[in-house]
Amino acid sequence: MAQTFQNIRGTFDILPEASTTDGTTIAGSAAWQFVESTIRRVLSRFNLVEIRTPILEDTELIARGVGQHTDIVTKEMFAFERGEDHYVLRPEITAPVMRAYLQHHLQQRGGAQKLFYIGPCFRAERPQKGRYRQFHQFGCEVIGAEDPRADVEVIASMLAVYEELGIGRNELRINTLGSPETRPVYVDALKAHFEPHRARLSDVSRNRLDTNPLRILDTKEGNERELVAKAPRLIDFVDEESRAHYDQVKTLLDDLDIVYTEDPFLVRGLDYYTHTAFELENPALGAQRALAGGGRYDLLARDLGASRPVGAVGFAAGIERLFLALQAQNVVLPGTPVPDVFLVALGDVAARWVFREAQRLRREGLRVALDLKGRSMKAQMREADRQKAPSTLIVGDDELAAGVVQMKNMGSGDQIEIPISEVNAYVRGLRTETTTR
Ligand code: HAM
Repeated sequence: MAQTFQNIRGTFDILPEASTTDGTTIAGSAAWQFVESTIRRVLSRFNLVEIRTPILEDTELIARGVGQHTDIVTKEMFAFERGEDHYVLRPEITAPVMRAYLQHHLQQRGGAQKLFYIGPCFRAERPQKGRYRQFHQFGCEVIGAEDPRADVEVIASMLAVYEELGIGRNELRINTLGSPETRPVYVDALKAHFEPHRARLSDVSRNRLDTNPLRILDTKEGNERELVAKAPRLIDFVDEESRAHYDQVKTLLDDLDIVYTEDPFLVRGLDYYTHTAFELENPALGAQRALAGGGRYDLLARDLGASRPVGAVGFAAGIERLFLALQAQNVVLPGTPVPDVFLVALGDVAARWVFREAQRLRREGLRVALDLKGRSMKAQMREADRQKAPSTLIVGDDELAAGVVQMKNMGSGDQIEIPISEVNAYVRGLRTETTTR
């Protein structure tokens, strides 16, 4: 057999029905639409408005935004050059949104800019369940607000999406990363802590000790976790202002009855964070348990060339992982939509009439199916059944000449004859709010 093409490993097709790729169930397109519209609905309650930025960005934007020494930039970028230009398929959307904010002077819209997004991201990671090379994020960025209420609103908007979808048993962890002024003192303390154990560290951590010691706190290696547990804690190094901000965040979370645990070693995998950092985990997801994460990034604007810092905070969440959490809780998602009516034709004249009638009914807003393969009436009825059409309109040449058609209720099997002049009114009564199979 001639060789056909396959999708690239770590990417997947979203088909009309749920499908399985590499042992993982990928939800069908109707389920994606349902989840996406839920996200939009819930985030708009927070008065967030959508922003869409390009998938292609300047590599330098991501390198400077996310951080030169992060895994994302050193190992995971899909980057390429064309002539003098360096492009990257965006691995995340925070730096792009900040770029757009600065480029378009969005502060001129007034107040804090509250933006949300949904879209694909790309990271050249080793694919496995819950970790892909093309994945989808939704998230929000609140830019131009230093107040801790912005941090807590961001967290609340993130949680609201999971709550609306019925995904419970998530764990929210929070920490403060302090200010950039105190960070070097903490990093020195970390270095001093790990240096005597250099020989025991993995190659990755040894490298991080020289380039980005904070990242060692992210290690998953068992014996290194013990060392991490005894490491100095960030909270003991942060200044008064940062501590006050963190305390207010916690108070406001309490005010909203949001349950959290403090994790003094939560540092996140991107370099732009200052003050608040948080992660939402779902233990049912195993290794890729991080549903979402975010924090404050007051220096990103300056890192991207702005003349002064801009207070900003946001979160991003993986949609594939959200689906895994839905599956873990056996939440039933919408399936493929069914047509309101299936038009069955018997004879050439009837086939032409049906073709025109379908167009008329679609203008009325109905979801109309008909045969496009020239099949027998029996085969058309079978197809209507397969598509779970609740009703069929059966039209024959002779009946047409007599000015009547048959309407069949596929559930009860009842069939009635109606005059052609009444078809429109009758079928309009069949319209449903997207029934699904
Ligand atoms: P992140 O933690 O790198 O943060 O990604 C956020 C979420 O995206 C993760 O919690 C995870 O659910 C999902 N995710 C990341 N990588 C993959 C992957 N390879 N496959 C599937 N899902 C993945 C950010 O991206 C920051 N921009 C978050 C943020 C927004 N901070 C401030 N504002």
